[in-house]
Amino acid sequence: MESCPPLPDTAEVLARIRSASVVPVLVVDDVQAAAPLAEALAESRLHCVEVTLRTEAGLRVLRRLADRPELLAGAGTVLEPQQVDQAVQAGARFVVSPGLDPVVVERCLELGVPVLPGVATAGEVLRARRFGLPAAKFFPAEQSGGVPALRAFASAIPDIAFMPTGGIGQDNAAAYLDEPSVLGVGGSWMAPRDLLARRAWDRIRTLCAQAAQLAATTAGRQSA
Ligand code: 3PG
Repeated sequence: MESCPPLPDTAEVLARIRSASVVPVLVVDDVQAAAPLAEALAESRLHCVEVTLRTEAGLRVLRRLADRPELLAGAGTVLEPQQVDQAVQAGARFVVSPGLDPVVVERCLELGVPVLPGVATAGEVLRARRFGLPAAKFFPAEQSGGVPALRAFASAIPDIAFMPTGGIGQDNAAAYLDEPSVLGVGGSWMAPRDLLARRAWDRIRTLCAQAAQLAATTAGRQSA
């Protein structure tokens, strides 16, 4: 692999996600959206972001956001081990996957990039734990039982933290953030794909500001 910037360690990445509380999940079709999007995120101080690799432009958008020193950019929708390499090359500081694929997790561990694989059952949480991972993405959160399911996982398996994502929005994010096992919530609601496609920057800025406000009101929740 070509040289790439040094990766932060997992504890540092998880601390950044915890301090952000809300992690925008971006599905971007046009690389030209990267600059105004970065401005909107920086302005609202949403400093952690997951750029999904499910679009053709995803990797290039990731590279552009990863270049912004004020942002901690990770790669999402990482399905193949080669994508882990590509994401790290593009500057991803963490990797997120919709499910727990051992091959993807192993490649992340080999490269030393923090990884949050998707989990939706107790068995998957245990597999993440067996890899020694301190955190996983609870996905798709709402469709998989929401807060009650999360609470049940956390009660039985207390030594893993969660980033719930999937079906979360401005109205239900706080219920997740109130859970001690929750590191932060992910979601596309503050910059949804259709608004990005329409370049609706004013609306995206408003939604980002509202999400940041929510994050601010839940700040300090875990230490309370
Ligand atoms: C993801 O990839 O994490 C989800 O697509 C985000 O879910 P949401 O669009 O329901 O927020």
